[in-house]
Amino acid sequence: MRHFLKETDFTAEEVAQIFELARHYKRSRGAHEKPLAGQTWGMIFAKSSTRTRVSFEVGIHELGGNPIFLSTNDIQLGRGETISDTAKVLSRFIHGLVIRTFKQSDVEELAQHGSIPVVNALTDFLHPCQIFTDAFTAAERWAGPSGDLFASLKGRKVAYLGDTGFNMANSWILGANLFGMKVSLGGPASDAPGEEIKALAAKSGGTFQFTSDPYEAVKDADIVYTDVWASMGQESESKIRHDRMMPFQVNKKLFAAAKPDALFMHCLPAHSGEEVTQDVLDHPRCVIFDEAENRLHVQKAIVATLAKMR
Ligand code: CP
Ligand code: NVA
Repeated sequence: MRHFLKETDFTAEEVAQIFELARHYKRSRGAHEKPLAGQTWGMIFAKSSTRTRVSFEVGIHELGGNPIFLSTNDIQLGRGETISDTAKVLSRFIHGLVIRTFKQSDVEELAQHGSIPVVNALTDFLHPCQIFTDAFTAAERWAGPSGDLFASLKGRKVAYLGDTGFNMANSWILGANLFGMKVSLGGPASDAPGEEIKALAAKSGGTFQFTSDPYEAVKDADIVYTDVWASMGQESESKIRHDRMMPFQVNKKLFAAAKPDALFMHCLPAHSGEEVTQDVLDHPRCVIFDEAENRLHVQKAIVATLAKMR
């Protein structure tokens, strides 16, 4: 049984195939094959979502499957039923499971005790569906209409600014290594990547740069990336995090210090005037809505690939 719990659950060759399949689904939307015909996929969400929820629901439907949304406010998991029992029970009904929650270990436990593919739709530790989509979005531009998407990423540099100690930064550390990219993280020393992600990166031979100088981070970058400073679950720390991350705000001046053709990316939702200024969000090289759209195409390719691997 194969799962997508972290970026490195797929090999580089598999990611290359997923990207080409996503391009195919994007081009033939509404007219492509339906590999999930007759299947039902569950979607457990313990946190809010716009993009992830809607893109998975629409995507599973477009692949011929039936998505069911399971808020933890409604299912017994939210009232203390164990993850292990939830995994065993759901495996008797459905063909795959998408989950957004807090702890990465909960997602791993679900995969371990169930007998269906599990997809990580964001934890505090990682957001792998987002990072695959972001890489695909850049590759679409760099490879052109018929070039090799995956190969176009090789040697490119992503600069990640702001909250360098949470899910999006961690996912770039694992993702960049898998895609053959370089990653430089610019954030406060107090928010440097933690031991767990460092160990995981080392295991897969990955390297990254961490600096508290935002200009050093963006130097020669092909992608400038940021995310909110207070993620879901950190709302009570908003003020203190805002103050310490302000030097890493992506504004016009910092964006201009990257490569002249650099792309600006953000997973969204964005807080204009905080981690990014409005002039950068309005910039012609800001591709945030392409990233949002591509969640649909890339996740369809991920789900279809896992369904085929069963
Ligand atoms: N980027 C992202 O995962 O957005 P949602 O929280 O809206 O799903
Ligand atoms: N880091 C953000 C990402 C949202 C898509 C969060 O976890 O809230």
